[in-house]
Amino acid sequence: MRASTLKSNDTCWCGSGKKYKRCHKSMERPPVARPVRPGRLSPWREVPEAIGRPPYAVSGDPGPRRNDDAVKSPEQLVRMRRAGAAAAEVLMEVGSAVRAGVTTDELDRIGHEGAIARGAYPSTLNYHGYPKSLCTSINEVICHGIPDDRPLAEGDIVNIDVTVFLDGVHGDTSSMWAVGDVDQASTDLVRVTREAMFLGIDAVAPGRPVNVIGRAIEAHARAHGLGVVRAFIGHGIGEAFHTGLQIPHGYEPTATTTLLPGMTFTIEPMLTLGNPDHVLWDDGWTAVTTDRSRSAQFEHTVVVTEDGADLLTVTEDGRSAAGPWLGLPAV
Ligand code: MF3
Ligand code: CO
Ligand code: CO
Repeated sequence: MRASTLKSNDTCWCGSGKKYKRCHKSMERPPVARPVRPGRLSPWREVPEAIGRPPYAVSGDPGPRRNDDAVKSPEQLVRMRRAGAAAAEVLMEVGSAVRAGVTTDELDRIGHEGAIARGAYPSTLNYHGYPKSLCTSINEVICHGIPDDRPLAEGDIVNIDVTVFLDGVHGDTSSMWAVGDVDQASTDLVRVTREAMFLGIDAVAPGRPVNVIGRAIEAHARAHGLGVVRAFIGHGIGEAFHTGLQIPHGYEPTATTTLLPGMTFTIEPMLTLGNPDHVLWDDGWTAVTTDRSRSAQFEHTVVVTEDGADLLTVTEDGRSAAGPWLGLPAV
């Protein structure tokens, strides 16, 4: 694969409006030494009969994304806090197993069993046929990496994305981990992406258009010379894993849906060191940057409150893998 899909005279990916050769071309890195490659998948993991399943668990088909039900009832929100807390607990449990030599399949096993231990169904399993119980996205993988027999290696950065279905609703959250010592650019990428997620959450308030979220995220990414992945967006969530409500991570002037108290959705920005364009592997899921530059992502499920937003994917005492909300207590 070529180092980049952009030619010298094309407009740069970063939104500066300049030609690529006058902008980020000079920052192009040599091809990565150890690109992430598809590995071998372990057999399908079973879920005990007693665990409540989402409607797609058998067929693999969640049906069309629906727009109704954007604002949740207090009763639904109680259940979403429970599902969110379970997702947060499972994510921290999986994250504590990250070290060089551990396969992403082992992380999947821990996440699968962690969900079941809490009476929850791992939402990704058979969602549109997805074969595993969580996503693991390493280095240049933007999102939806499928756990396999690849061991984590010193210097990797990895996103772990956990969604669980509990009491009839989903909670969806992800965080980044560094494996041993990682290079400075990757460390900065992870830090800025985390900040971008919380700045996006800070922008949420009732009465505002949904595009204030992406505007805040994009401004922070731009200030640090990072790319914003636009192809994958945040989403409404509740009784469905993904509803019709779209949460862009870059500024979209036309995304003017008004935020209302009780709306629940994810904010899950993906930022890149280079070009944010992606290509899918033949597995139909794994999204990697076209220039193989590294990508980072954080995700929380949030609810719009009377004056801002509240995190749903935190433990009962307010903890999450992403840590405190810009230095403040997470709830
Ligand atoms: N958890 C992902 C999200 O944030 C969705 C993963 S769906 C899967 O929306 F099928 F790829 F697992
Ligand atoms: Co999500
Ligand atoms: Co997710």
